[in-house]
Amino acid sequence: MRYYDALPAAQVSGAITVPGDKSISHRSVMLSSLCEGRSEINGFLPSEDCLASMRAMRALGVEVQQPQPTRVIVNGVGLHGLKAAATALDMGNAGTAMRLFTGLLAGQSFDSTLVGDASLSKRPMERVAQPLRLMGADVRTTGGTPPVLISSVAKQGATLHGIEYPMPVASAQVKSALLLAGLFADSPTTVIEPAISRDHSERMLSAMGVRLRQSPLRVELEPPSRLTAQQLLVPGDFSSAAFFIVAGLVGAGPGGLLIRNVGMNPTRTGLMDILRSMGAQIQIQEPRSAGSEPVADLLVHRSALHGVRVPPTLVPLAIDEFPALFVAAACASGETLISGAEELRVKESDRIAVMSEGLRGLAVDHDVFLDGMSIRGRPEGPAFAGGSLDSHGDHRIAMSFAIASLRAAAPIRIGDVANVATSFPGFVALACSAGLGLVESSIASA
Ligand code: S3P
Repeated sequence: MRYYDALPAAQVSGAITVPGDKSISHRSVMLSSLCEGRSEINGFLPSEDCLASMRAMRALGVEVQQPQPTRVIVNGVGLHGLKAAATALDMGNAGTAMRLFTGLLAGQSFDSTLVGDASLSKRPMERVAQPLRLMGADVRTTGGTPPVLISSVAKQGATLHGIEYPMPVASAQVKSALLLAGLFADSPTTVIEPAISRDHSERMLSAMGVRLRQSPLRVELEPPSRLTAQQLLVPGDFSSAAFFIVAGLVGAGPGGLLIRNVGMNPTRTGLMDILRSMGAQIQIQEPRSAGSEPVADLLVHRSALHGVRVPPTLVPLAIDEFPALFVAAACASGETLISGAEELRVKESDRIAVMSEGLRGLAVDHDVFLDGMSIRGRPEGPAFAGGSLDSHGDHRIAMSFAIASLRAAAPIRIGDVANVATSFPGFVALACSAGLGLVESSIASA
């Protein structure tokens, strides 16, 4: 079992660059596999989750080379060129790979089985399987969760049919799974969202020549005859930058902390809006484009934060950033109230329960609700007591509590941190380069 000792640090400073975006890296390898011709991906995130997508594509007969950790060459097999995998496809800890591959494989003329690790095997899959069945797919879950068994569409009606689907939850994974299945349907697929979710699939599909008709909360995909290979550039992951944004706000030195090349897609930056409403001073520098995505450098200044009511409309736009936001709220004056965030309960862990357990262990005053939390922070001096806590194998919880050490009275030991590698390889080295006192060790598990 791997663990961190996060030692109270004086401040963070300097300039850092976070690794590539996880959501975009998954999509880059999946979609370029379906293109005709050779795609080159730069800035790819070589994390365990994205490598699971890459391995799955290789198992489905796609030649994928990785001449450097962040540079990937995909020789696309075209829309109808995938072949049956010899064994079950192992998605590891990756919910995005599990959901998107389910959509992508639902329209193939071969059977597939998708499995995952213990955490992924507890995550809901019917939200994807049900609408895929409406499209004519034969997708079976195991009591609602993985393993997922997909039967060849050739055994059904030979092809999927487009549907118009109002999604009950705002989920980019569900939306993307349906759009990927829609690539193989005989009529347009329309997805209607209850709230805006990340739109990386739409941007990449459009760049590859797929006709999409989009209006806020609605996307209609016209089944294409082909996808055109691209040079793809993956920006730095806003969700990885989030830990350092919070670190800068609660602990930057006089010059602030500069985070370079951060993906600034507005469907991802809800945390910026929430933190700014709490008094955060974050300067957006040199806004520019990386392929079809906006990026910028962020200069984060130490800021006096105050509690706010987080508008529920911002929840899907900040869905992965709540563990980091809870840490910021613990350092803010007054109360921060988060509601409408019940989706946090079905992430890599139950992030409401696991964050509450950790906050309690570090003596942070808070209340827990079914759909959120209220946190009363300490703006002066240490906001966290020292102590030990368990991340329950959730990468974002491990990294959030590592940042808490900037405002801790004593060291924090964070257990079960190996999964940080699913999204953020090199986190410890980068955090230490910015000034955090983070040591990773391992003990034999009992
Ligand atoms: C993701 C969508 C989100 C997010 C996940 C990545 C994606 O999940 O939490 O980390 O890449 O589409 P949901 O769509 O299930 O909310």
